[in-house]
Amino acid sequence: MEITKLGNTHLHITPLGLGLAALGRPGYINLGHKEDLPENYPVPDMEEHAHRVLDTAYQAGVRYFDAARSYGRAEKFLASWLASRGISPGEITVGSKWGYTYTAGWKVDAEVHEVKEHSLEVLRRQWKESHEILGPHLDLYQIHSATLESGVLENIEVLRELIQMKEKGLAVGLTVSGENQAQVIEKALSCRLGGAQVFDAVQATWNLLERSAGPVLARAHQQGLGVIVKEALANGRLTPRNQRPSFSDKRERLEQEAAKHSTTIDALALAAVLAQPWVDIVLSGAARTGHLESNIKALGLTWDEELETALEDLQESCPVYWKTRSSLEWN
Ligand SMILES: NC(=O)c1ccc[n+]([C@@H]2O[C@H](COP(=O)([O-])OP(=O)(O)OC[C@H]3O[C@@H](n4cnc5c(N)ncnc54)[C@H](OP(=O)(O)O)[C@@H]3O)[C@@H](O)[C@H]2O)c1
Repeated sequence: MEITKLGNTHLHITPLGLGLAALGRPGYINLGHKEDLPENYPVPDMEEHAHRVLDTAYQAGVRYFDAARSYGRAEKFLASWLASRGISPGEITVGSKWGYTYTAGWKVDAEVHEVKEHSLEVLRRQWKESHEILGPHLDLYQIHSATLESGVLENIEVLRELIQMKEKGLAVGLTVSGENQAQVIEKALSCRLGGAQVFDAVQATWNLLERSAGPVLARAHQQGLGVIVKEALANGRLTPRNQRPSFSDKRERLEQEAAKHSTTIDALALAAVLAQPWVDIVLSGAARTGHLESNIKALGLTWDEELETALEDLQESCPVYWKTRSSLEWN
């Protein structure tokens, strides 16, 4: 897999990365997540499962891995995998996130899965925790789902702390979700402290159903930020797992195009993201090795005008997309 640099940072990355949101804890919102772990939730079993998926990614050449404090034991599973495989810092790039605290207690049906707080206190506490677990492997630390309402992008104490982290060699970023992604990114692009641009990278949702952040992500890329795309498969809605009757027309069209190109619909959807000139990394959120292998096929596909024309109207309106996203159940 081709190795490039993340935006203006010194971090080496590959076009496909692996996200650990579904690998580090029993419950997640992705479609059919409960079938991935067949209720086999003891920590050692889940750790072994995560290691198998990480091995598959590494063997395929993936060198970017995405975790978060709130993904259960994701940082720990990643750290134990790195140690057991003898992978040194610098051989791969690791991003993690602060701002949500995991509260599900290893349960799928927890009342509250995670609690959000974007304060200086949480940044300091979670940074200490992430650093204790990942040590020198941790390369990029991101605000997890920054919003305008939380005021985090105007919180001088937080921004100053992030700048201090940058001075010690860490890259800093933010992730965004929801209808206002574009406005939050816009605000982040103007965040400067002492003349320095605060953020080195942005992680956002962009996929065949929800393209609204595209123009501002292109500007972020132009400004030298690394651009990471998450939810490229719309949490499994752009995979064969989406058997919802309301999606049947769209699924049929995806299947037709996938058949024409002798590929899978998930590979096709990922190829659409990889083709965007402003994208640095597209995350696969696969929790099964077979799904990851299917996702990786995207690297061998060319997203051309014909495909773009055939599938551009798969897009949903931004409010409709995010309403469906927030109705996805933890499973
Ligand atoms: N706010 C944030 O910062 C934020 C939010 C969301 C995600 N993220 C990051 O982005 C990563 C990716 O996001 P995501 O998990 O939403 O990913 P996604 O790529 O949109 O969706 C992944 C889902 O697609 C399914 N899938 C993939 N290939 C498939 C196939 N061939 N057949 C059937 N199902 C298939 C996966 O199933 P299996 O699980 O069964 O393999 C999984 O349920 C996360 O892991 C996380 O690191 C960050």
